[in-house]
Amino acid sequence: LKAKVVLDRNYKIAPVDKRIYGSFIEHLGRAVYGGIYDPHHEQADEQGFRKDVIHLVKELQVPIIRYPGGNFVSGYNWEDGVGPVGDRPRRLELAWRTIETNEIGTNEFADWANKVNADVMMAVNLGTRGIDAARNLLEYTNHPGGTYWSDLRKSHGYEKPHKFKTWCLGNEMDGPWQIGHKTAHEYGRIAKETAKAMRLVDPEIELVACGSSNTGMATFPEWEAITLDHTYEEVDYISLHQYYGNSENDPANYLAKNVDMDHFIKTVTSTCDYIKAKHRSKKTMHLSFDEWNVWYHSREADKKIDPWTISPPQLEDHYNFEDALLVGSMLITFLLHADRVKMACLAQLVNVIAPIMTENNGRAWKQTIFYPYMHTSLYGRGISIKPILSAPKYDSKDFTDVPYIDCAAVFNEENEELTLFLVNKHLSETINLTADIRSFEEYQVVEHLVLENDHLKAANTAESQNVVPHSNGESTKEGGQLQIIVPKTSWNVIRLK
Ligand code: AHR
Repeated sequence: LKAKVVLDRNYKIAPVDKRIYGSFIEHLGRAVYGGIYDPHHEQADEQGFRKDVIHLVKELQVPIIRYPGGNFVSGYNWEDGVGPVGDRPRRLELAWRTIETNEIGTNEFADWANKVNADVMMAVNLGTRGIDAARNLLEYTNHPGGTYWSDLRKSHGYEKPHKFKTWCLGNEMDGPWQIGHKTAHEYGRIAKETAKAMRLVDPEIELVACGSSNTGMATFPEWEAITLDHTYEEVDYISLHQYYGNSENDPANYLAKNVDMDHFIKTVTSTCDYIKAKHRSKKTMHLSFDEWNVWYHSREADKKIDPWTISPPQLEDHYNFEDALLVGSMLITFLLHADRVKMACLAQLVNVIAPIMTENNGRAWKQTIFYPYMHTSLYGRGISIKPILSAPKYDSKDFTDVPYIDCAAVFNEENEELTLFLVNKHLSETINLTADIRSFEEYQVVEHLVLENDHLKAANTAESQNVVPHSNGESTKEGGQLQIIVPKTSWNVIRLK
């Protein structure tokens, strides 16, 4: 099969905000306890954080990490997680029905985020709590000193404020499963008033309002319209969350699911622009896709986990090769919407639906999805270039006219580097892609990385890395044309300089 793409340095979508390579750590399962933190592990540092995990997170160059939830945040008393560890209460954690020891809280997480060179995207509890807890937490984390909450932080050993910039106003408040679930009007009102109070404490912050929990919500997209009608001038972003799975074992349909993500982004963008017009506003709302991933492998196992245990192995999806392909396609989708999607968080980062896994007394290792995430984070920084693509298409159970090729391109002006990201979704055919890159005529191929495998269900384990990229991809440059061999079901990164 053949396909063609035209890439020109003048066809700019927008600069890529590096925060689209963000991730997420929730107090859930073994993400915190047994994941980033395990004081008894041989790799533990002086604070009990696993150095091998820190090393892998740094390999991904994650710019921002959402914390502490997720569903967890809607029942969380942040005060439980600060001060002397010995005095912190153990609580019933209602979102995931576990016991939360509170050994790790806001200050420790800030320390860990510093160790991995990431900013923190904080979330406030708008489920069981509201304006008061949110403004107090912000005073605790961001105010320099001389007030009750900022001096309390100092007394806890944190002289300097953390200066967290990005704050989520609750989590998935449209979801009936959420503790303190609200109607769109109820949420819109509390989000607006919380935002107002928080901005009075610290005008430098930016705020994310909750959008829909997924495209299947009955209230989508009315939820966005109502929420933004209340909050438009008070917030900077609206959130999107989405997980996909292949429980029907229909790979062609599964690999097309980023088409749904693309529709989701377009619908939310239109809804934002409708409210912008309605309010005669000059401000453009941006999108924070702050939960996204594949999530389905662990759903059955999770039903068998007993409640009220400490850090049980919840949501431990064991990812395979086809999952890595869809993750790659979802990352491409973000790059194609670089003008509106300014933040995105792969949910999550360690053990819980994660690219990084840990063995309790053993090593930390990379799941298949680690690779497309790492490649885009490392090489997808610059300006997203609009690919003019003509590729053969297919129909699947839920989608029509799905291009077999997904393509995004990022031009890094500073390093004078052009990177193409490609997925071939064809289950049996190689695609010969001709890329017309005439405005990059002097550029040569530096590397063509490929993630491929004959078995869609191939996976990595602690012992063996079966799904790893190689750099023997075939791309040849003739004049302004690049001939790229895109193997069947493969993820490709072509770097030119
Ligand atoms: O990431 C796992 C969970 O998925 C989060 O806690 C919640 O926000 C979403 O439903």
